[in-house]
Amino acid sequence: MENLIKKTARDLAKSKKVIALTGAGVSVESGIPPFRGKGGIWEKIDPMEFAHIDSFMRDPAKVWDILIREMKDVVEKARPNDAHIGLARLEELGILSAIITQNVDGLHQLAGNTDVIEFHGTFALQRCLKCAKKIETAKVSLDEIPPKCECGGILRPDCVFFGEMIPPQHLFRSSKISRECEIMLVVGTSAVVYPASNIPGDAKKSGAKIIEINPENTPLTGSISDYIIKGNAGKVIKEIVSEVELLL
Ligand code: APR
Repeated sequence: MENLIKKTARDLAKSKKVIALTGAGVSVESGIPPFRGKGGIWEKIDPMEFAHIDSFMRDPAKVWDILIREMKDVVEKARPNDAHIGLARLEELGILSAIITQNVDGLHQLAGNTDVIEFHGTFALQRCLKCAKKIETAKVSLDEIPPKCECGGILRPDCVFFGEMIPPQHLFRSSKISRECEIMLVVGTSAVVYPASNIPGDAKKSGAKIIEINPENTPLTGSISDYIIKGNAGKVIKEIVSEVELLL
């Protein structure tokens, strides 16, 4: 493990074209539970019943009550952890150019990364189903469930539900930067949700080195990934960044 940290630091220090693909695991140490694996949200509730656009449209109050209310509480309390802070430092050092994140918690931006593709949208905003107006989630009162816009329309998170398209501009830009990068750090994702799960394979096909950071193996491990650094993102990324700083 020690030499993989040093090996990654050496590769990063030499590259100007590093991007990261992150998932829920990068925010676990900020107190936001993952979806799968131990403590995962989908271990308790069925994503098809609560996170699919059809279920939301059928019963928005239920989805607000069971899923979104808790998400609002947890995300509002969350702060960037060492993983987010380390990735922001890599941008500051001119090494990491962009992050494609599946997360909707806004913690990469809060940590200081300036080029973040929110592949599954953002929980920071709610969107009115009727007039499409966007309102900051922090300003939405939960006195009435589901919350309503001034126009009377029901509000929904500005996230991508199962059953919905990824915003085309995110698909296009993610594919472009994945084909151009030399190294892709794949941090805290189970790599099972399409089309995000295809991104490391696209980068690999274009010659990038794929480095996973995750306590567990994923479907990428041993096939798409050049290697995996087993461990929690906070500790691993912090160690990588301190090694990089010694080399610069
Ligand atoms: N550091 C790094 N990785 C971690 C940590 C940690 N501290 N804790 C857990 N992990 C890993 C788990 O081993 C797992 O591989 O993070 C991953 C979390 O996987 P998921 O919960 O499936 O999250 P993600 O891959 O982002 O899910 C993709 O599924 O439900 C949808 O829209 C949702 O964006 C989400 C998508």
